[in-house]
Amino acid sequence: MDVYNSHFNARKEFRMQYRLRRHDGAYRWIDDTGIPRFDGNGAFLGYIGSCTDIHEYRKMQAELLRRLLENAELNRQADSAMLTAAIAHEIDQPLAGIVAMGAAGLRWLDKENPSIEKAKDALSGIVQAGRHAAEIIESLRRVSKQDNRTRVPLSVNTLIREVLTLAEIELQNHHVTLQTSLDETIPTVLADRIQLQQVMLNLIKNAIEAMTSIETNSRILHLKTELGASSNIVISVQDSGPGIEPENMARIFDRFFTTKPRGMGMGLAICRSIIEAHNGRLWAEAGDQGSIFRISLPCNP
Ligand SMILES: Nc1ncnc2c1ncn2[C@@H]1O[C@H](COP(=O)(O)OP(=O)(O)OP(=O)(O)O)[C@@H](O)[C@H]1O
Ligand SMILES: [Mg+2]
Repeated sequence: MDVYNSHFNARKEFRMQYRLRRHDGAYRWIDDTGIPRFDGNGAFLGYIGSCTDIHEYRKMQAELLRRLLENAELNRQADSAMLTAAIAHEIDQPLAGIVAMGAAGLRWLDKENPSIEKAKDALSGIVQAGRHAAEIIESLRRVSKQDNRTRVPLSVNTLIREVLTLAEIELQNHHVTLQTSLDETIPTVLADRIQLQQVMLNLIKNAIEAMTSIETNSRILHLKTELGASSNIVISVQDSGPGIEPENMARIFDRFFTTKPRGMGMGLAICRSIIEAHNGRLWAEAGDQGSIFRISLPCNP
């Protein structure tokens, strides 16, 4: 009534929405508009107006809004499920290390002549692995929050050497021969060190797992760095395994896609999120033998 009276008295155009009781007693939402009319001399002649029943429309809008909010919530839940899965996946390795070092430490103490020194080594190994696990968790949080404050100019070759010291024992245990062709003249990239380490570790782990099905003397892992087109740095991880089934090629980067009995199917999905967060690309190709995973990253200007 306030809107109506104030506009009417000022002879102004109005528009309002309210509920009105229909003949059958049901309250319906109405869109009510009014436009004042004047004659040639400006004398007020009254209003021309319309009332439109917008009840169904309002109901639909409310439903749409509800669904929109529900979707946003589902997306948020999916993001946190993804983060949880990623953390579980990435700290599996340091956790296994912690357990192994703990067990070794206990064995050293249980001996007839216990070695305090060896037990201390095991304990510091545990501390280091625990810190590393915490770093990994932090770095994954940064990917999901798109926080890139920890990006620094990195030499990809140095990073690969660091990763190889971490993967060395696994490679030896699986009788994998390592070949590297690292171009020492390539420029640095702007990247998060821990995140990029995780990508390399995941690709190497996949390569090792793929090669368990072939003979031990033909297991070759080839790591290569080079300057690619439009000053991108290209890292290639090539193995001599059975390769990827063509029908799986389109799905290997999907979350939870795995062909391994004990796989989680998270490795490549995590790798791709990390590389894309660095404005790079990650893709797979079939090699002459085995598969090649390539990472392309913009070089640090
Ligand atoms: N180097 C490779 N050679 C052949 N197939 C591969 C290779 N890397 C990945 N794949 C295929 O892609 C799938 C998905 O890999 P991804 O790393 O995402 O998950 P996963 O290794 O199965 O499990 P996890 O979560 O433990 O990493 C693998 O199950 C495998 O079928
Ligand atoms: Mg994997």
